[in-house]
Amino acid sequence: MTQTLIRNGRIVTAVDDYRADILLDDGQIAAIGKQLDVGPDTRVIDAVGLLVLPGGVDVHTHLDNTFGDSTTADDYESGTRAAAFGGTTTIIDFAFQGKEDSPLDAIARTQAKASVGASIDYGFHVILTHVDETVLGDMKHAIRHEGVSSFKMFMAYPGTVMVDDAAIFQAMRLVGEHGGMVALHAENGNVIELLIREALAQGHTSPRYHALTRPAILEGEATHRGIKLAELANAPVYFVHLSAKEALKHVIEARDLGIPVFAETCPHYLFFDESVYDSDDFSVAKHVMTPPLRDKQSQDALWTALKTDDLQLISTDHCPFCMKEGHMGRVHQKEHGRHDFSKIPNGAPGIETRMTVIYDGGVRSKRITLNRFVELTATAPAKLFGLFPRKGTIAVGSDADIVLFDPEGTQTISAHSHHSNVDYSLFEGKHVHGVVKKVFSRGELIVDGEQWLGRPGRGQFQVRGEVGGF
Ligand code: URP
Ligand code: ZN
Ligand code: ZN
Ligand code: ZN
Repeated sequence: MTQTLIRNGRIVTAVDDYRADILLDDGQIAAIGKQLDVGPDTRVIDAVGLLVLPGGVDVHTHLDNTFGDSTTADDYESGTRAAAFGGTTTIIDFAFQGKEDSPLDAIARTQAKASVGASIDYGFHVILTHVDETVLGDMKHAIRHEGVSSFKMFMAYPGTVMVDDAAIFQAMRLVGEHGGMVALHAENGNVIELLIREALAQGHTSPRYHALTRPAILEGEATHRGIKLAELANAPVYFVHLSAKEALKHVIEARDLGIPVFAETCPHYLFFDESVYDSDDFSVAKHVMTPPLRDKQSQDALWTALKTDDLQLISTDHCPFCMKEGHMGRVHQKEHGRHDFSKIPNGAPGIETRMTVIYDGGVRSKRITLNRFVELTATAPAKLFGLFPRKGTIAVGSDADIVLFDPEGTQTISAHSHHSNVDYSLFEGKHVHGVVKKVFSRGELIVDGEQWLGRPGRGQFQVRGEVGGF
């Protein structure tokens, strides 16, 4: 592969901010220094005026994931391309354990799809839908020999993916012993199910009832329960898509006691609130994700927690379903629930917009520093999920996953110009500062302005080490 020298850029990591040249060779960062000398065959890229950032690491995406009858609108090919255009060079997606199969089957099946589709590097969390001795044995094997060390479990969606507290506890006890971690979707599924049935029985079918039947207190309750289970199991625990102050307070309390509790939030919870549900219009279905958008106080609390490290990272929960039925050949999308909110597939897109909206609304708006931005979007996810220092930073010997980012450039976000298959953007029409100019993945230039130079299948599976240890 050609050597590349990135010259005159401003290198920003979670802790550094300085001007230097970077030499990329053989997929890695070979040298960093002032006025590095290179031979005539080296490609030289001038990054004057640009930030040189580590490629983003998004540890919560749903590509080619099926929930009930609905499959997400992005597969590995379109989803990783969209991620790359947004400055993300590594994702951790999900391998789904079906009713009859084991975690290792789930990994093999997902690997077969990702290895041909992905254009950026990837790993998996296994979604556990049941736990028994065989599953526990597989989990141990997955951590030790497959590089899959995190497992998602649902405290919501009874009858499909929800598992009981004993199953969660058993999984936690195992990962606690073997260097893995359980990631929890924390909502009290049984009570939510009751509220949904009651709402429908009263004729409340519009999408706003998705939010009204999933109150924040039930996220708070499940979060607290998950923490107690983890404490008893002597294991770290990670909360996905934390949205509410009612949940956050339990995370803060546990962390203050030194319990290894970690949590992410997602851009939609930082930029939108529950007021979007003040309408019976079906367009509200765009915001039908789980947990739903919360109150303004929660939004403020999330921003504060990102600053104080009570929340450790931002991932997208990119779970795209089209508004229009049949778009890109996808059926059972949002429209499926026009007459029954409980049939609207849950989720929203975000894989391509994360870096820019957090830069614009976080760094430029002075809610977080530039170093913290890098930490939240790249370094911390890489550390927490066993990818660091190969991923998540700019250092000699790290993979050459690098984003050249124009902090003064502007763009208007739109589904017409994004690279995902999904037919809408939560940020449609939003004018933002911060533009991804070039993206390198293991030293290869895969995004050059609007030009796509990546190719499906070039992404590599990432064998992950111990997780939850920071
Ligand atoms: O609404 C969401 N978040 N859909 C994706 C599945 C999940 O719970 O993360
Ligand atoms: Zn979830
Ligand atoms: Zn999710
Ligand atoms: Zn402007």
